[in-house]
Amino acid sequence: MGSRKSRIPGARAPTLVRVITIAAPREPSPETRVALVPDVVRGLVRSGHQVLVESGAGTASHHPDDAYAAAGAAVVPAIDLGAVDILVHVTPLPAAALLRLRPGAVTLGLQAPLDDADRLAAANARRLTVLAFERLPRTSRAQAMDVLSSQALAAGYRAVLEAAIRLPRFFPLAMTAAGTVPPAKVVVLGAGVAGLQAIATARRLGAKVAANDIRPESAEEVRSVGATFIDVGLAGEAGAGVGGYARSLGRSAAQAQQAALAPHIADADVLITTAAVPGRRAPLLVTAAMVAAMRPGSVVVDLAAAGGGNVEGSRPGVDATVPSARGGGAITLVGLASAPADLPTDASRLYAKNVAGVVALLTGADGGLVVPLDDDIIDGMALTHDGATRHGLGAPPAQDAGVVAPAVTPGGAPAPEHAEPR
Ligand SMILES: NC(=O)c1ccc[n+]([C@@H]2O[C@H](COP(=O)([O-])OP(=O)(O)OC[C@H]3O[C@@H](n4cnc5c(N)ncnc54)[C@H](O)[C@@H]3O)[C@@H](O)[C@H]2O)c1
Repeated sequence: MGSRKSRIPGARAPTLVRVITIAAPREPSPETRVALVPDVVRGLVRSGHQVLVESGAGTASHHPDDAYAAAGAAVVPAIDLGAVDILVHVTPLPAAALLRLRPGAVTLGLQAPLDDADRLAAANARRLTVLAFERLPRTSRAQAMDVLSSQALAAGYRAVLEAAIRLPRFFPLAMTAAGTVPPAKVVVLGAGVAGLQAIATARRLGAKVAANDIRPESAEEVRSVGATFIDVGLAGEAGAGVGGYARSLGRSAAQAQQAALAPHIADADVLITTAAVPGRRAPLLVTAAMVAAMRPGSVVVDLAAAGGGNVEGSRPGVDATVPSARGGGAITLVGLASAPADLPTDASRLYAKNVAGVVALLTGADGGLVVPLDDDIIDGMALTHDGATRHGLGAPPAQDAGVVAPAVTPGGAPAPEHAEPR
């Protein structure tokens, strides 16, 4: 951490102002996002921070070096990690990079898997504070820093566009002299941040949308964005986890859900799945037979493909074809690998704003780096600090409504209480 003398107007003597050096590296391929964008750099520099950006860091997200330089960053061919106070990133940093940071430095970004032994050991060897966005408390105060939400927003929007471009039909109703084209029917499973955005996007494109989620409050949320709620007849609290999140369904409830969803899916032109349970493999909601029961030409987009998949047979980054049991063609099954990275300009913009929110919490009254573990946000996010791995590696402890319950054991393995019908 550097320092400089500055004369504060009206002050009698020069005051020592400390400076935090924040750096954003070029992300490894295939990541297209970047942790800082020029607009956010401008704000950080205005707040007195020094910002280093590795040359080319913003190229894939269309934020050129010149724009960073104009915003006040030093654009460097390679970051001198030993001189950095806060390294901000999207892709988890390799252990080798952690070992090159100065003792006591902070890293801030996505860190999954949170229990990577090599990275934790490297971080502790350098007494680093590793802050994981995955462990940010989902509280009202933390919303401006909520990377999971900002990136889920991008993912939900992108999922609908991926479906629309592959669907051999219109989304909206079209009444023309040549006849009437009915609107596409879209089913969305999982109505969290990504699912609600997918519903809203499909509605804006003119589709008829129905959706299901297992949290009791989701029915009202689904209706509020203009979709029909598919009631699968779950007993009130069957899908309710702690703090407003879902829990894994038991086997019989999951089978009942599949049976109730099957006719809706068979009748849909597009199925978009976004379901997740914090700390666990994505629940399998749709079997291969349920996909095959759809009409030829229909499209399934599985946003959870990288987390194990909501749809049997989906693979991240792969478009598969599933022969329709009705004959006459196939269904396209799209496994999205990293949907936010397909919208890198805006996804990076939102990510960088989230980053700046956390940096503000790490800035002391004198402008220097602080790690306030008595702040629930920093406490929740800190995987390591001062040579030790901190409490639990799952989701952060409950804070207020809309909070993730830790659904993993201290070792990071999924708790075994509920089996998924795979
Ligand atoms: N700051 C905040 O207060 C805050 C921030 C973000 C989200 N939230 C709330 O947290 C909740 C979930 O948000 P998320 O998008 O991060 O969730 P998520 O990514 O963990 O899960 C996505 C959705 O999948 C659903 N789901 C899980 N299992 C399912 C199943 N078997 N069948 C159908 N759906 C299933 C979940 O209920 C959730 O809505 C929402 O209520 C959201 O409003 C609160």
